[in-house]
Order: sequence, then C-alpha cells, then structure tokens
Amino acid sequence: MRGEGGPPSGGLRGRRAGARRDRIAGRPGIARRPLRPRLRRELPPMNHFQRRDGALHAEAIPLDRLAHAYGTPLYVYSAATLRRHWKVLDRSLSGLRHLVCYATKANANLAILDLLARMGAGFDIVSGGELYRVRKAGGDPRRVVYSGVGKTDEEIAFALSLGVKCLNVESGPELARVSVVARRLGVRAPVALRVNPDVDPRTHPYIATGLKKSKFGVSVEDARRLYQLAAGDPALDVRGVACHIGSQITTVVPFLDAIARVRRLAADLGRAGIPIRHLDIGGGLGIQYDDENPPHPDEYGAAVKRAMKGWRGEVILEPGRVLVGNAGILLTRVLYVKTSGRKRFVVVDAGMNDLIRPSLYEAHHHIEPVGAEPRPEGTVDVVGPVCESSDFLAQGRKMPVPEAGDLLCVRSAGAYGFAMSSNYNTRPRAAEVLVEGDVARLVRRRETWPDLVRGERARPPGRRFPARRRIG
Ligand SMILES: Cc1ncc(COP(=O)(O)O)c(C=O)c1O
Repeated sequence: MRGEGGPPSGGLRGRRAGARRDRIAGRPGIARRPLRPRLRRELPPMNHFQRRDGALHAEAIPLDRLAHAYGTPLYVYSAATLRRHWKVLDRSLSGLRHLVCYATKANANLAILDLLARMGAGFDIVSGGELYRVRKAGGDPRRVVYSGVGKTDEEIAFALSLGVKCLNVESGPELARVSVVARRLGVRAPVALRVNPDVDPRTHPYIATGLKKSKFGVSVEDARRLYQLAAGDPALDVRGVACHIGSQITTVVPFLDAIARVRRLAADLGRAGIPIRHLDIGGGLGIQYDDENPPHPDEYGAAVKRAMKGWRGEVILEPGRVLVGNAGILLTRVLYVKTSGRKRFVVVDAGMNDLIRPSLYEAHHHIEPVGAEPRPEGTVDVVGPVCESSDFLAQGRKMPVPEAGDLLCVRSAGAYGFAMSSNYNTRPRAAEVLVEGDVARLVRRRETWPDLVRGERARPPGRRFPARRRIG
C-alpha cells in the first residue's frame, strides 16, 4: 500500500517538495551551457515542443525524462515559447502607446507571472486572489487592471489600497460600491466602465462575452449615463473605456467592430467634458488548436494600430491565450487500452479535472505520442479516470494507437489548462514544470492526498453561537 505521502504519480515521490531546478537533458558537464547556436536555428518559429530523433522535447529536454522525473499527469511550459510570444505581440504594437496586461486567469502560476512581469507585462485580474498572486510574483499593481462582474467590497478595498491602475466596472451597482469603498478608504478610485459593444465574436457561446445578452459589462447607452454619474462623484476618477468581447477569436473583424464602437463612445464622452485617457480593448486573440487559422499577432497588431489611428491616449490589451496557450503541454501516461463493442478507449492518467476544455467546450487538443516507437493508426477515444461520461480528452480521434505505459503529449494546454483544473473525484492536481533550455524547474509540486483534506474536519468540536443566532 502506498503511504499517505502521495498518490501513484511516479517520479520523485517522497523528495522534498517545493521549487527546484533540475538539470535533466544534457550530460552533467554540459548542463549549464546555453543552447548551441545551431540548435537555436533549428528551433521552430512559434513553439519549442518539437521532435528530435523521433522523440518529443520541451526545448532541449526529452519529455519522457520529465515524466520520469516528475510523474504524470504533468504540465510542461516552455519559457522560450512564452518569451517569444510576448515579444512578437508587443513588437506588433510598436508605435502605439500601449500596455499589455496579461490575462492572469489563463495561467496564474507564479513562475509564469514572474517571467511575464520581467518582460514588462501588466496584468488583467478578475479576483483578489489573482491580485495576491500578481503581487507575490513581483508584478506592479500600478500596471494592473481589474475586471469581473462580482467584485466584493473586500476585493475592491484590496485593489484600491494597492493602487491598481484601473477598476473595470461592470454595472451601476458595482460603480456605487466602488464609490462607497473608496470614500471609506479616503482615496479616489480609478475607473473605466466595461462596455458591451454587442459584437458577435463568432466563437464558442461559452466564451463569447461581448453580446447584449451576456452577463458582462454594460450597454453603450447605460455606459453614457454611468459615466455622467462617475464624473460627478469625487470618489471616482474616470480613466478609460474598456471592453472584452470573447476568447479564441479567429478573425480581426470583431475586434475592429468593437474598437470602432468604444472609440465612438470615448469621443462622445470627451465632447461631453469627460476626458478618456485610455481604451482597454481586452484580449481574445485565438490560437491554432486544430484547423483554425487565427490572425498572426503581426496582423492583429497592424489591424489594432489602424483602428486606433489618431487616438492620443493609451491602449491597453488583455491577452491570455495567445501568450501562454501554445507555450504549455500536458503530459499523460496511458493506463489501459480497452475495447467496448466497436469502440476503442485509450484510458490515460489525466482526466477532465486536469484539463476540462474538451469536456466543457468540446475543444480540440492535438494529442500525439511522445516516443518514437511505431504504432499502428486507428480511431480511439482518449478518456480519463474520472467517473463522468464527459471525461474525455479526444473522441473519435485518428492517431497512432498507443499501448499501456506510453506517454502522450496533449498540445496547446498552456492556457485555461491547469488554471481550470480541480480536485473532482478527489484527484490531486498535477505538477507544473517550467523548462528553459536544458533546465527544468518544478514550479508547482504535485498535490498529495493530505493536501486534499487540509482544512476539512470530520468531527466536532463545532463553534457555539448564542441560541438566538443559531441557524436553521
Ligand atoms: C476580461 C477579460 N480579459 C481578457 C481575457 C483573456 O482572453 P484570452 O485568453 O482569450 O486572450 C478574458 C478571458 O475570457 C477576460 O474575461
């Protein structure tokens, strides 16, 4: 029987937990050497998860070594890919006064936030917890914009006390709360209204946020009235207009429509004596998971610059997926291959609790074998161990049919992968590793069974309340 120390995850069990740097790829003597120039040239343009001699690597490290060292399921991130994506996007906006506020929700690991903060990123947050993370990772609160429809007084106070750049307010009642909290703290709250430009982003309905029927933001008409209120409130400092129309958007047209609408609003407000200093155009640029053909960031940046021509203020962007999506993969091991009638199931050790996108959005993630061993092609469902029929990573997928014990790489899992993972079925969340060249760093240790019950109590003592306040 396994001890309480951990579930059957393989690799490095029982070693000291916490962030470590481990050299894995090279022979000991060459471990610290930077990548050779020849190798650099071989690296592909957009991500650094490539095959060498048939075996999949993360930068210079074979993925099977990572699985051996850290166990599976395992999220693996490539620092070079992340940096590259950041640079490409940031460069595409050159000439425009802009601030890229990375959407923390896409992947909130402290190491990812730290890397982006060092590259000069600001952050878009949607909770007090995300603000806590950003600060812990060394992010500058003055470069933080705070979105979200349900900010609590406590969260608003936390953000104001840290001096965030702007609160993107999503309703009239929230505007009133921000004012109350700001007065209580004796500060002026920097605000923008998140406007719902009613543009169809032509994406999955669960990630479309800028339509009139959406819970997010306020209509342009309501915004005009609320801006008047805010401008007359000494506790509020009107800074900008914000919007975010959805995620995984694969053409520039909806972005341009949205920008045109918020620019019109900003111009009207300016004429009405309410100067707008920044336009926050949100995130949402898509990536290639399957056969989508999203605009290259250069195309997106050029389109944004055209749409912002003549704008004198600052432009804020809130990209998440386009920065981290293809900078991460999920490594999983095949537990069993079983047939049921005419169906063939590949049962792997990663479930919907580790990567929920396929179950939640019927999202496609490319899945391929890590090793070089030849396997016959076939059609399979790749399913996890969770007790739900919707627990699948792929259905009806044509791929080399793996054998038990094989490793599979689930691509494009860097965004909304670990961040949306859970403990459903009392499954510990996966470990996360950040690779830089031939160095791997454990940036989140695998959860253990004791982690999962920490904070729970099976038995009394309970807390006594005076009888009149007893509930129920
Ligand atoms: C307010 C806000 N900004 C930015 C983003 C990031 O979107 P994406 O990861 O598609 O760039 C989201 C995600 O839904 C969001 O809700």
